Amino acid sequence: MDQKTAGQRHPTLKRHESLQPLSRDHYVGLVQAQHLIKSADADGAQRRRVLAEFLDAWARDICVHFEDEERVLPELMEAADRERMLKEHVRLRELADEAARRRRQVDPGGDWMRGLGEMLRDHIRWEERVAFEHIEDSADPLRLEMLSEQTAMIERSRPRGRGRGRSAAGGRRS
Ligand SMILES: [Fe+2]
Ligand SMILES: [Fe+2]
Repeated sequence: MDQKTAGQRHPTLKRHESLQPLSRDHYVGLVQAQHLIKSADADGAQRRRVLAEFLDAWARDICVHFEDEERVLPELMEAADRERMLKEHVRLRELADEAARRRRQVDPGGDWMRGLGEMLRDHIRWEERVAFEHIEDSADPLRLEMLSEQTAMIERSRPRGRGRGRSAAGGRRS
């Protein structure tokens, strides 16, 4: 994935170290979002495969990432950002539930899958370009240090760098 796809700025190079583990997680979500968007131009069988792959990534990585964000970020966020993040997580969880139902259909629907991919991509881009920026700009250094300790534990809990496929971990960034 090129830099433009992942965000205007490279998400982890300039990111405060406290947010880097969550930014690394975003790579998995962006790859899935791209596949979902592209599948709008594929056939039903290919869309089912893409949706199955998304559901795997959801269960394994994305769902856990949402829970971690909800655990460590809200107290550092501006009210409007907090509200938006939580609202979009709720919506994406609903869409993931629907994805599990659509997976069993002959064709899960190109427009629907494009919509899911765009929603996931836009959520991640907004976190990288707006919400994480706000946290870096406004949180006091002590709070960011505490966040660093929490996200270091998150990083250790992730399978990347522990022998799982480099593709999911985005080896380019490690
Ligand atoms: Fe999120
Ligand atoms: Fe996120």
